[in-house]
Amino acid sequence: MLGVTGGIAAYKAAELTRLLVKAGATVDVVLSAGGARFVGAATFQALSGRPVWSDLWDEAAPGGMAHIELSRGADAILVAPATADFLARLAQGRADDLLTTLCLARECPLLVAPAMNRQMWQQAPTRRNMQVLADDGVALLGPASGEQACGEVGPGRMLEAEELFDELAAYLQPKLLAGRRVLLTAGPTIEAIDPVRAITNSSSGKMGYALARACHEAGAAVTLVSGPVSLPVPRGVRRSSVTSALEMRTQVFADLPGQDIFIAVAAVADYRPASLAADKIKKGSAEMTLSLLPNPDILAEVAASPQAPFCVGFAAESRELAQYAEAKRVAKKLPLVVGNLVQDGLGADHNSVILFDARGAHALPTAPKLEVARGIVAHIAKLLGGR
Ligand code: CTP
Repeated sequence: MLGVTGGIAAYKAAELTRLLVKAGATVDVVLSAGGARFVGAATFQALSGRPVWSDLWDEAAPGGMAHIELSRGADAILVAPATADFLARLAQGRADDLLTTLCLARECPLLVAPAMNRQMWQQAPTRRNMQVLADDGVALLGPASGEQACGEVGPGRMLEAEELFDELAAYLQPKLLAGRRVLLTAGPTIEAIDPVRAITNSSSGKMGYALARACHEAGAAVTLVSGPVSLPVPRGVRRSSVTSALEMRTQVFADLPGQDIFIAVAAVADYRPASLAADKIKKGSAEMTLSLLPNPDILAEVAASPQAPFCVGFAAESRELAQYAEAKRVAKKLPLVVGNLVQDGLGADHNSVILFDARGAHALPTAPKLEVARGIVAHIAKLLGGR
């Protein structure tokens, strides 16, 4: 159920409705009198494909009891935008219009996305109301800080539709890793040859970042050690940036104490140049040989360390996936290896993986990387059990 109250950000609620419907959700929109001044009911009706509700006394409501029946069976109520006035009435437990009444009569989680001028957001009454709502278990999405419709700059801007969609999806994920601490590596490493040249690989970091996000959504405290990528840090995740395999190893061992789970997604360069040239190497006509030293295997070292966490490896192969992935699982003594064929996932937004554990191989359906990541998290949680 999507509640829309009277703020200019109501136009973003139309886009949010579209995103939710596109993702397969059933959206019942409840429009307050103020909300209807900004966006008409016809807009929400067209986007949701369902009647829009505004009146506490609507005789067409299911069972004739709109204030109770409308939210029955809902997975969540999200009020976006939530005005200062609506939040004040919510904090007081008022039931003087359809939306406040539905919120009071609900059996499902309630989330609010505030939208108001920065002064209104920062004033003592709003601070008090937000504290009451937090104590009552109402989840807060945003607000963001930035330029406001009134021309002022500060906190109180409603999150964008896509951000609200992501936050809601995250909120609804089962908290399979609640109380766990997860350390991940992601991205490529870069092994310098001289000040301008290096050996690296084409890992995009997308799978590692999606897994970091999925672990956070599942309730874990997440630390991500990342090679150079151009991806934003997932919300709620602590990231350390490193460049080379040796730096990655140092950072991983610095962050390791107290971790419950280690997931090595990084495409660590297996070799580094034996020496780093202080100056740029000049070209010549003779053949050139680069001498390489093997890098430490970070995952194998972590798995062999005293009090090793539950370790998960990745195996990106170009052929004979099952054989190579299982061999890596056994060689590195890992409870779980996630295998994929490089032609299926490297750099792409979708991935197709097979999970190898002591009981055999389990294929996950081809899906966007975040969805694959959620599947991996569910499998890790199952293997961990009560450990
Ligand atoms: N890994 C690691 N440190 C390394 C190399 C690999 O932590 N120096 C981790 C990767 O993050 C991945 C797993 O080990 O989780 C498998 O990496 P991969 O490079 O595919 O395996 P290798 O054992 O290096 O075998 P090969 O390159 O021969 O396929």
